[in-house]
Amino acid sequence: MEFKEVIDKRRTIRDFQHKEVPMDIIEYAIKNGFQAPTYNHFRAWDFIVINNQAAKQQLVEVENIEKEIDVKELEILFEHEEAIKKEMYLEAIPKQKRMILEAPTVMVVVFKPKTKVEEAKTIYDLNCLASVWTCIENFLLSLAEHDVYGVTYIPQQIETLKRKLNIPEELEIAAIIPIGYKADDAKIVRQKTIDIHERIHFNKW
Ligand SMILES: Cc1cc2nc3c(=O)[nH]c(=O)nc-3n(C[C@H](O)[C@H](O)[C@H](O)COP(=O)(O)O)c2cc1C
Repeated sequence: MEFKEVIDKRRTIRDFQHKEVPMDIIEYAIKNGFQAPTYNHFRAWDFIVINNQAAKQQLVEVENIEKEIDVKELEILFEHEEAIKKEMYLEAIPKQKRMILEAPTVMVVVFKPKTKVEEAKTIYDLNCLASVWTCIENFLLSLAEHDVYGVTYIPQQIETLKRKLNIPEELEIAAIIPIGYKADDAKIVRQKTIDIHERIHFNKW
């Protein structure tokens, strides 16, 4: 597939078919993930593959995203936001629980922090997080190449999740990524159109 085609294809999907994602596609995406740039040359990243319903349910419970969302309340909360942003939140927030439970596979991406995230003082201290996200983008693009999509969810209850998933104390969770084939009626929200010429600055801002 052409590079530009993959870039265009990769979109956030929150509605999945029940069809399993073959492990060789997941391994291909992880392999490409490990070719991403990394701040210290170590690529200290790990992936947990969750494809067991009880483990997915546990994620939802720990994250406390079990209760149904009242869309009317959300509409009020985002009423003064730019339409395109409101559209995204109204689409995303009600689906947080379902996307984890219904994705055939949920990936947990783990990284080794340089400094504990809460102790980071400079951008340099966050190089480990920046690096794991370059890996995540390679991973998502590689899945899209095979018509598999994902949604990056950032957990709130990281310490509890680490304990439940047996993740070593010194490591951190970067993201939880439900992945799968997109449902026929999967919604893809509009991307904001950016005029790149307004964002490119020569020699100084
Ligand atoms: C750092 C980061 C955090 C995100 N957190 C969430 C999240 O918690 N839940 C969710 O449904 N989507 C989440 N997203 C997905 C974004 O909503 C999505 O990437 C954005 O709306 C742009 O849409 P696109 O990926 O289709 O281009 C996150 C994306 C990034 C990069």
